[in-house]
Amino acid sequence: MRPAPASAVVIAIAALASLACARPEKSAAEASGAPAAAPAARPAPGSTAAEPREDRRRDPFTYANYEAVRVTDLALDIDVLFDEKALDGTATLAFERVDPAASTLVLDTNDLDIRSLEAGDGATWSPTPFTLGADDPDLGSRLEITLPENASAVRIAYRTHPNAAALQWVAPEGTAGKRRPFMYSQNQSINARSMAPVQDTPAVRMTYSAIVRTPKDLRAVMSAENDTGPTDGEYAFRMPQPVPAYLLAIAAGDIAFRPLSDTIGVYAEPSVIGAAAAEFSDTPEMERIASLLYGPYKWGRYDLLILPPSFPFGGMENPRLSFMTPTLIAGDKSLTGVVAHELAHSWSGNLVTNASWSDAWLNEGVTSYVENRVMEAVYGRERALMEQSLSLDQLKEEIAAQEHPELTRLRLPMALAHPDDAFSEVAYAKGEFFLRFLEERFGREAFDVFLKAWFNTHAFKAVTSDDFRAFLDDRLVAANPNAVSVAEIDEWLDGAGLPATTPAPKSAAFERVDQVRKAWLDDVTPASAIGANAWTTQEWLHFIKGLPEEASADRLKELDLAFDLTASRNAEIAFAWQMKAISAGYAPAMPAVESFLTRIGRGKFIYPLYRALKDKGDLANAERIFERARASYHPIAQRRIEEILQAQN
Ligand code: BES
Ligand code: ZN
Repeated sequence: MRPAPASAVVIAIAALASLACARPEKSAAEASGAPAAAPAARPAPGSTAAEPREDRRRDPFTYANYEAVRVTDLALDIDVLFDEKALDGTATLAFERVDPAASTLVLDTNDLDIRSLEAGDGATWSPTPFTLGADDPDLGSRLEITLPENASAVRIAYRTHPNAAALQWVAPEGTAGKRRPFMYSQNQSINARSMAPVQDTPAVRMTYSAIVRTPKDLRAVMSAENDTGPTDGEYAFRMPQPVPAYLLAIAAGDIAFRPLSDTIGVYAEPSVIGAAAAEFSDTPEMERIASLLYGPYKWGRYDLLILPPSFPFGGMENPRLSFMTPTLIAGDKSLTGVVAHELAHSWSGNLVTNASWSDAWLNEGVTSYVENRVMEAVYGRERALMEQSLSLDQLKEEIAAQEHPELTRLRLPMALAHPDDAFSEVAYAKGEFFLRFLEERFGREAFDVFLKAWFNTHAFKAVTSDDFRAFLDDRLVAANPNAVSVAEIDEWLDGAGLPATTPAPKSAAFERVDQVRKAWLDDVTPASAIGANAWTTQEWLHFIKGLPEEASADRLKELDLAFDLTASRNAEIAFAWQMKAISAGYAPAMPAVESFLTRIGRGKFIYPLYRALKDKGDLANAERIFERARASYHPIAQRRIEEILQAQN
């Protein structure tokens, strides 16, 4: 372990502000337009003494005293109050004393209204003293509870705030049906504390259960064993496997269900469910493949929930019930990589969890690798190679734009400004390519055995990069010491930028696209003759992203006349095209940009579009569109876009 010198850490924090194209979302700092001055490094709120060496197991983004007392179970009993935009009820937390002498339990909260707090043994309760600390805009408030000697649980009556960071309260107009409201949570990375008092760190796991009451005609669903009873406004949930708080999830709305197999299905609004079931009908095959490769699926059922279009992510791997954006429903299964990705988290992330967000690559990078293996098995090698190639291009772009090399390391500094800053293309694609490098060196067969054993050995545990390296040495390097050198692994884990040993995916389809793009740009082939009518979404994305920066509006018009790209119903193609249209000043696409921005709230698309409009000198237009669209966006997205539009650059 090489602790970064303090100055490097400060540089790293400043640099987070300039991470370009972070996936799946950019941090507030990034969106704000990269102030040169570093925000102050965060002290670790749970640690009392200054640490001489970096401790990569202690999560700096929680107040919880989990080294001394650990929450083991959460029982919620809550009402979903749409009019008040609040969850209201009780949270009962059972805990165990790791330190038998511990006399306080520290929880994370953010904007919670605590009405009463009792301690007990699960059967009898009595009020116990507590203090709520100062409010930090990101971390919230520390809730310190005095524990009577015989107490093994606390019961907290509370209500969430209407602006709780985790919760979006979608008005009927923002839904597919337009008649009933919808609400959902998004807890990763540190929003769980605005939904319930918890130990909000990936290092602590708990089982949970819930009683949830909604208006009678709405259905509640959770990341748990769902209630299969009638839609009657009262639902019971149970999550028997322990999960970190960031995987606690709830949604309520006019939600129907359709099975895809005995153990897999789709929840969505009634008007969306048919299209969703058709688009995602390969999910059972994906689960079969992943289980063959990496061991049995350990979570019982696997269902998908299709959210309203304002959901700010592509997908969120809530256990047993991934939350998905409706923008994946393209009609041709071309965007199902996100399903493979969220499903893959059932092994990497949900089962084997990073102990702190600075090791996010162990979560997202391993998942991206597994995702691609599943895509290869289900859709073939060429599709997998195209998706690898698109990821690598994105990673190279981001590394090139990154002024601060510390932030291109897989093992990130512990002192990030915000844990969301760990989720850049480095965690996803560099992590994915690291595993692909290992696969190449040790051979697929041996590497598959290794990765399966990694999941199995560390199931339901929190892990660090050091754990991964030790397991790698033990299970692969020891038997095959010449396959990789220590220096090569060092470079992958702690080196900046793209290692010299990065595998190069070669897609024959993309090579053909490169040739026809060039022939068209050189005026050798007219647009109508480039043979694009049979292209897959991935070929289109490669074609559009490879158009030169200086492509003129006239050239885009030629393409549009031949292929009607402005009217594309595929969200990825529409987005890639609109980015080029904005930078070329191609006016005929502008109504489509505005319509896209007022219909869709997925951050991956809308933040770059707003930024592009602004960079093109069209700030007034961007502000006008934002005014129209604003109320339909998730609160997090609203804040991000405000920062993008206000930034002084
Ligand atoms: N876990 C992430 C989403 C996330 C990350 C939410 C960090 C909050 C903080 C999810 O698995 C994810 O990566 N989603 C991607 C799609 C994926 C295929 C790259 C997305 O939302 O775009
Ligand atoms: Zn992910």
